[in-house]
This record gives sequence, C-alpha cells and structure tokens, in this order.
Amino acid sequence: MSLVAAVRLMAETLDHAVVVTDGALDAPGPIVLYVNPAFERMTGYTSQEMVGRSPRILQGAGTSLAARKALARSLRVPQPHETTLVNYRKCGEAYRCHIQVYPVTDESGRLINAIAIEQEVKRGPGRPRAARHLLGSQGPRAPDGA
Ligand SMILES: Cc1cc2nc3c(=O)[nH]c(=O)nc-3n(C[C@H](O)[C@H](O)[C@H](O)COP(=O)(O)O)c2cc1C
Repeated sequence: MSLVAAVRLMAETLDHAVVVTDGALDAPGPIVLYVNPAFERMTGYTSQEMVGRSPRILQGAGTSLAARKALARSLRVPQPHETTLVNYRKCGEAYRCHIQVYPVTDESGRLINAIAIEQEVKRGPGRPRAARHLLGSQGPRAPDGA
C-alpha cells in the first residue's frame, strides 16, 4: 500500500486537516499529493485544486517569513516541526493555522514525503479577557478614582 493510500485510510474521517506532499523542497515543491476532507473544509480548496500545487498557495502578506524559514530548515534536516502561522482560505479570509509536519525518509535518510496535521487556532475567550483585566488594573483610572 502506498503512503498516500495508508494516510487516506485514517485521514478521511479525521477532524484535523491532513496534507501529504512529495519530498521536493525547492520551489515549486513540496507538491501536494493528498489532502483530506477536513483540509477542504478549513481552507475552501478542494482536493482537486490542491493536488499538484504547493501548500504555499495558502500563504500571504500576514504569513511570518521566520516561521516559513524555520519550517523549511526542519524539512531539510529532516526533522519534525511544529508551528503556527497565518494562512488564507480560498475566499481570502485569514486564519491561524497550527501545523505539525513529519518528514518521511528512505533508508538513506533522504526526504521522500512529508505529512502534516493541521488545525485552525481560534483565539479563545480567555485571551481577550486577560488583556482586558490587565488594562483594568494598569490603564487610565476613572475620573472618580473608582
Ligand atoms: C506536508 C506539508 C504541509 C504544509 N502545509 C502548509 C500549510 O498548510 N500552510 C503553509 O503556509 N505552509 C505549509 N507548508 C510549508 C510550505 O509548503 C513550505 O515548505 C514553506 O513555506 C517553507 O518553504 P519556503 O521557505 O520555500 O516557502 C507545508 C509543507 C509540507 C511539507
């Protein structure tokens, strides 16, 4: 069974987005070989639109160059890597994407594929509340001193 067939077996029903690419790191690679239905839901791109293209099509002005370079470096080692960066859905809407990438190597250690598990990170209610709390204690005081 091929790697794509094996990943498809477990990824079709997963809630997490899954991407399998080849091992070509220099642009236009890595080239997408497979995305699962959760990836289609998250990005708005269909499997037919993604296969044969680079995941870079999800990147844009808000995507951290440093995060991209760190990911590229890890793939060259190759070693697993985890990052969160800004991506863009097909409709243009930005979202924060948590990505875990796992290199797949041959017997000689050469990168032949990579598998990524991805999930949109939504800012939970905890963070803005904490920020408001900080503002409340350090920000300007009300005129009556309350
Ligand atoms: C399996 C796999 C999945 C990837 N998924 C994404 C993704 O969803 N979003 C993204 O911005 N980059 C993703 N990338 C990273 C880009 O394809 C590329 O490797 C990265 O931008 C670093 O290369 P660069 O510096 O040449 O752009 C993925 C890479 C791999 C190998």
